[in-house]
Amino acid sequence: MDKLVVLDFGGQYTHLIASRVRNMGAACEIMPGDADPEKMENVKGIILSGGPSSVLSSRAVLPNKGIFEMNVPVLGICYGHQVVAHMLGGTVRKGNVSEYGPTKVSFFKKKGIFSKVRNIEPVWMSHFDQVVTIPPDFEIIGKTDDCPIAAMANPARNIFTVQFHPEVTHTVCGSRILENFVDLTGVKREWDVQNMVDGLVEDIKKKAGDKNVFLLVSGGVDSTVAFLLLSKALGQDRVYGLFVDTGFMRKGEGEQVRQSMVELGFENLHVKDASEEFFKALDGVFKPEEKRKIIGDLFLKIKDDVALELKLNDDEWLIGQGTIYPDTIETGGTANAKKIKTHHNRVPKIQKLIEAGKVIEPLVEFYKDEVRLVGEKLGLGHHLLNRHPFPGPGLAVRCLAAEKSRYPEGHKVIEKNINISLADYGLSANILPIKSVGVQGDERTYRNPLLLSNSNLSWDEYGTLATKLINNFHSINRVLLRVAPDSFESVNIKETPMTRERVGLLQEADSIVMDFIKEVNIYDEIWQFATVLLPVSLDSDGKESIVLRPVASTDAMTANFYQMDINHLHELQMRLMSLSGIGAVFYDLTNKPPGTIEWE
Ligand code: XMP
Repeated sequence: MDKLVVLDFGGQYTHLIASRVRNMGAACEIMPGDADPEKMENVKGIILSGGPSSVLSSRAVLPNKGIFEMNVPVLGICYGHQVVAHMLGGTVRKGNVSEYGPTKVSFFKKKGIFSKVRNIEPVWMSHFDQVVTIPPDFEIIGKTDDCPIAAMANPARNIFTVQFHPEVTHTVCGSRILENFVDLTGVKREWDVQNMVDGLVEDIKKKAGDKNVFLLVSGGVDSTVAFLLLSKALGQDRVYGLFVDTGFMRKGEGEQVRQSMVELGFENLHVKDASEEFFKALDGVFKPEEKRKIIGDLFLKIKDDVALELKLNDDEWLIGQGTIYPDTIETGGTANAKKIKTHHNRVPKIQKLIEAGKVIEPLVEFYKDEVRLVGEKLGLGHHLLNRHPFPGPGLAVRCLAAEKSRYPEGHKVIEKNINISLADYGLSANILPIKSVGVQGDERTYRNPLLLSNSNLSWDEYGTLATKLINNFHSINRVLLRVAPDSFESVNIKETPMTRERVGLLQEADSIVMDFIKEVNIYDEIWQFATVLLPVSLDSDGKESIVLRPVASTDAMTANFYQMDINHLHELQMRLMSLSGIGAVFYDLTNKPPGTIEWE
C-alpha cells in the first residue's frame, strides 16, 4: 500500500500527525528521525515531526540527507522546520520570546500547500528556537509577531515547512494545509476505520495466541473499547476484568463502573477495594512524579494479589490495559521524547512486563478520538462513548499536598517584576506558593501558577493575556482567575498531606461540578473537567481553594481552556463555596501547551 512517513524527532504530536493523515484516508507510518531512506518503501511523501531538541545542540538528531534526494514532497513541522533550514543552508537561532499556545500567522504568499489559507490565520505554537535566515531557493510564506519566518517553501522541490503545528485542531487552517500536502504527494487513499478494527482484531489474535487476558478496567472509554476488541478477538470467556477501587475515584464511581460493565454483558469482573493500601502508600508523598509511580506500582501489586487469589496462572494469562498513545508519549516512551509525566500504566515495572511480552494493549497506537470511532463501530452507546476521560491515578493527582518548608519565601506579589502592565487591564496578581506540571516546547515544566484578580474582561481577553504572561514570564506555567471571594487579605499555604478527609472534600466538590454541568447541559461541550483542590487559603480560617479546569480538546495533546457562560460560573461558584472546607474558587485560564490538563 502507498504511504506517507512521519520521521519522529520526539515531538509530543508525532503520532497525531500520523493520525490526521490516516483520517484523510492515507496510510501513514512513523519511523525514527534518522531512518535510512533505503528502507522506505512505497513512500510518497515525508513529514518531519517536532521535537524537544535544538538543531544547534551537538546531540541533535538530524534526518539522513538522502531524504531530500528521494524526489518526494517534504513537510517540516516545528523542529522539522528548523531541521530543513539548518540542513539546507539557512540558519536557526534561539528566539527572544518563546511562543506557547495560540498566535496568529500572516500569510503573504499562497503557494503550493498554502494555497487557500486566509491572510491571517490562528495557529498553535510551542517552541524556543526559530529560523532566522532561509536556505537558498526558499521563500518566506508567513510570519507571526514574534517569529519572522513562521512558514517557508521551496515550491520547485516540493519542500514546505512551518514553525506552527498544522496537526493540532486549534490550528484552524492546519487540516487544509495537511490535506493539500497529502494531495500533492499523490498517495492513494485506501485506509478507513473498518480497516483499523479488522487489523486490531487480527493483531490481538496473533499476540494472545492461546493465552487469556486479565484486563485492568476503569469504566472509561479506553478500557471499555479494549474489552470489546479483546472479546471480539478471543471470546468473552477468555477475558477476565479487574476493577481496582483506589479510593481516588469520583463519588459513586465504583458502582457506576460495575453497572456499565454488566450492561455490556461483562460478567467476569472482579472488584477490589484497595483504598486502604493506596492511602497508606501515599501518606506524606508530595511530589507528583513520586505519587504517580507509587500508584502505578501498587496497581500491579494488587493485580498480582488478585490473580493469586483467583488462581490465574501467570503462564496462561496476559495483562490487558486500555493504554492509549498520549500515555506513552507523555511518559517519554519513544526515542527522543522527553518525559512530561509518568502515566500510571507506564511505570518502569510495567515497561519490563511489556518487554517480556506479558502485556496486551490493543489501543496503544491511538488517540481518544480514534478510540471513540472504534467504540462506535463496535456499537458502544453514547453515554459510555462520550464519558469524560478520567486519569488512572484519579483524584490523587488533583488533590495537591504541600510541605511549607519547600516554599520558604511564601507568596510573592509580582506586579513590580512583571513586564506586562496588569494595571492596564485593571488587574492585580499573586504568584501562588504551589507548583503544577506543564508542557512547553515538548518539555516538562514544574512551575507556579499566577492568580489574577477578577476584572470584567471577556474570556478571549483573559485567554490572550494568560498566553502573553506565560510566554514572557518564565517562572509561571499557568494563569488562574479568582472567581471567589471578591477580596482577600493574604495568600497562605496550608501544610498538609493528601488525607482521606481532603480527598472526601474534593469528591464532594467534583460531584457538585459534574452534577451541575449535566444539569445545565454543557457536559458534552466540555472534553474533560478536572476539579482540583489546592492547599492554599486566602484567609486565616484554613479553608482551601478549588480550581475549575474544564477544557475543550479532541485528543488530549492540545487543549483550550473552556469558556463557561458567566451566569453558569457564578451559580457553580456559589454551590462550591457552600462546602464548609472551601474558601476560594479559581478558574484555570491555561491552554495546553503550556499547561497540561491535569495539575500533577
Ligand atoms: P495531561 O495532564 O498530560 O493529560 O494533559 C492528558 C490526558 O491523559 C489523562 N491522564 C492519564 N490517564 N493515566 C491515565 O489513564 C494517567 O496516569 C494519566 N495522567 C493523565 C488526563 O486526564 C488527560 O485526559
